[in-house]
Amino acid sequence: MTISSEHSAELRAAARGLERRRFLTLSGAAATLAFTVGLPGTASASAPALAPGKVTSDPFRLGVASGDPQPSSVLLWTRLAPEPLAADGGLPPARIPVAWEIASDERFRRIVRRGDDWAHPEFGHSLHVDVAGLAPGREYYYRFRVGSWVSPVGRTRTAPAPGAPVRSMTFATVSCQRYDQGYYTAYRYLAQENVDAVFHTGDYLYEYAVNGAGGTRAYTDRVLPDAVNRETATLEDYRVRYGLYKSDPDLIAAHAAHPFVVTWDDHEVENNYAGGIPENSVPPAEFLLRRAAAYRAYWENMPLRRPQFPQGPDMTLYRRFGWGRLAQFDVLDTRQYRTDQANGDGWKPSSAESEAESRTLPGLAQERWLTDGWARSNAQWNILSQQVTFARRASADGSANLSMDSWDGYPASRRRVLDGWKQAQPRRGRSGKDLMVLTGDVHVAYGFDIHDDPADPASRILGTEVVATSITSGGNGSAQPANWAGYHEHNPHLKFYNGLRGYVLVNLGATAAEIDWKTVSHVSTPGGTLVTAGSFVTQAGSPGLVAR
Ligand SMILES: [Fe+2]
Repeated sequence: MTISSEHSAELRAAARGLERRRFLTLSGAAATLAFTVGLPGTASASAPALAPGKVTSDPFRLGVASGDPQPSSVLLWTRLAPEPLAADGGLPPARIPVAWEIASDERFRRIVRRGDDWAHPEFGHSLHVDVAGLAPGREYYYRFRVGSWVSPVGRTRTAPAPGAPVRSMTFATVSCQRYDQGYYTAYRYLAQENVDAVFHTGDYLYEYAVNGAGGTRAYTDRVLPDAVNRETATLEDYRVRYGLYKSDPDLIAAHAAHPFVVTWDDHEVENNYAGGIPENSVPPAEFLLRRAAAYRAYWENMPLRRPQFPQGPDMTLYRRFGWGRLAQFDVLDTRQYRTDQANGDGWKPSSAESEAESRTLPGLAQERWLTDGWARSNAQWNILSQQVTFARRASADGSANLSMDSWDGYPASRRRVLDGWKQAQPRRGRSGKDLMVLTGDVHVAYGFDIHDDPADPASRILGTEVVATSITSGGNGSAQPANWAGYHEHNPHLKFYNGLRGYVLVNLGATAAEIDWKTVSHVSTPGGTLVTAGSFVTQAGSPGLVAR
């Protein structure tokens, strides 16, 4: 396999530049470039086979996961790593046979499908099993086996059949889980919730160095290795960082309990990057190498299918899911194709530059894909799972500043999306569709009404934005941050604001959606307590958040 993208010349240039700049280690550069040339099953990726009996310690320390539920299939994931903080996971450069099975009961008495696969060293010994032939709208249990090692059991479910009348569904949405800023207590609670799926809107991993004590976690029972105490740049760096994150028991529990539908924001690569443009003044070719390494490690460590497998620095992550007639989920990627932030990024007044018609956040192709999908949608609830704040967010101090990294920095793009939404509404005489936008990124919880004119709170309400706070990023936070009153004063369409950590539960029904913002008391030590900080409802056909 060769990379066919426009980026291949840039990658070659980057590779030449590496010898001079020594930005990556030679082995890192080789690994980064090696994955452009082969997939397992081709001659270039036939590592020798390892007898499973040679795996002498538990290879399932990163747990199991499932994701991207379809009516007849779901993606099952694990990654073999007896030593999660070693670059090779503690395994030799050999392929390892793994057996898997999926059953309709927790005790595996009624096994529905089973099979064998290889864990390839070229993919960090990850497994991505796309199990087909399942029944729609059902719960399943799955596990993996290597020799005598058996993985924990995961629970998952399939989506309902297309067009099926579905009375209700419940999902959670989460984001921003910086490991060194707290414990994943919110995930421990989420693992116990009864949800059909979890939507992760990004910042699953952060690139920043993690010290030996795990930062805020202040470990006294272990010392994290130097390999995580530097900013991630190479494929090995990103793999080790995922090993750190995914060895957390609360995160493992959440993945084992529910299928995840993931998308990324910026920190899976680097803070506030835009398309091929890095945060800092690094040559673009070098940045593309880093992006290729980060995307590759992301795919290896997430429950994603083959169509999401990256081609060098490119990876198609935007995709669509149906939940019968009840819901359509459009999962966006607002990082890979965006125009560079206007006005030098940060909080700035809008300008001719930020308002330029040519600017786009999802990229023009993804904008069209989204609005075309809405036009064809028969679902009551049309839900965007995406990264950055969609509603206008006026500065809490009353100044004209807006976030240039969010949709406020791409107003023409937002206008096209909202116009596409309005055009997707059915003609008179039939009930309308409903719009809900899921967001992460900002490390606080917001509930916004989305207005037709984002700057005019008297204009028609078109939908609801549900912003999930972080799992840990930003540390403990507080229920009413210092700018709480200012934000409310200058944003009348802001219906809920809370700065603690947690997640959101959304129950979709035929006539209304109920939204519960859940928060934990603290994340700096284990054992935080959970409360419902806000409960709202939005009626089908009559959008707008109302406290309940
Ligand atoms: Fe974040």
